[in-house]
Amino acid sequence: MKVIIRNTAEEASLWAAHYIVSKIKAKAAVTDEPFVLGLPTGSTPLGTYQELRRMYEAGEVSFKNVITFNMDEYVGLPESHPESYHAFMHRNLFDHIDVPRENIHILNGNAPDLEAECEAYEEAILDAGGIDLFLGGIGEDGHIAFNEPFSSLQSRTRVVTLTHDTRVVNSRFFDNDWTKVPAQAMSVGVATVCNSREVLILGFGEKKARAARGGIEGPVTHTNTLSALQLVEYGTVVLDAGAAKDLDPANVAYFKAVEEAEGSAF
Ligand code: PGA
Repeated sequence: MKVIIRNTAEEASLWAAHYIVSKIKAKAAVTDEPFVLGLPTGSTPLGTYQELRRMYEAGEVSFKNVITFNMDEYVGLPESHPESYHAFMHRNLFDHIDVPRENIHILNGNAPDLEAECEAYEEAILDAGGIDLFLGGIGEDGHIAFNEPFSSLQSRTRVVTLTHDTRVVNSRFFDNDWTKVPAQAMSVGVATVCNSREVLILGFGEKKARAARGGIEGPVTHTNTLSALQLVEYGTVVLDAGAAKDLDPANVAYFKAVEEAEGSAF
């Protein structure tokens, strides 16, 4: 696992966006096969999406040959609801870049058969050739996608029940009323994320410090699903200073030394 630490969320977001673009370009240089990108919602990726949009507008990247798979979606929330993840993704990214609409995949939380929808999603990922890079954020309890504590580390796309804490955290988008936050969601599993060729997880702010420390320095455990990243061949966590504050300073020094030795273009 690599850990990249920047002073601010803005700097960390720039790093992430430039890294993603470098990967899209690297694949395009050697093959016509599409780049398959997993994407999250939430506050954390907003700065990264803003920079991806800027880079697209500046002609620095095209998403024409990119296929996307989103991590999750609420169950039972209309797609037209402003807090649906369909609406979020179009508002913050897809409406502003040239990714072909037919290349966008987001779970349908209103599908008549949710289980069949989940199975079809896993098949669609396989049909696309697997995910090249899965971008994600960490929740305060260490969750990646909606894989709450005690999710199987072998889990695949499925319907999940949100913890009370997650509903309270997300209630800021639902009139601060946690009962308005859907109780269930559909989410890619821990194994769906970890079977990607590369995984990039962002965590910003002191609220994420406990989750980051557990996932990076603690053991692999279902009580912090970020920790499953330790089993991924190419896993990177990108933190700002707040989220990194509880890491062992000796480890932070090592992460910086690795970055310096390998050189970072961003
Ligand atoms: P946030 O959520 O980006 O809004 O903090 C992250 C998450 O819960 O996965």
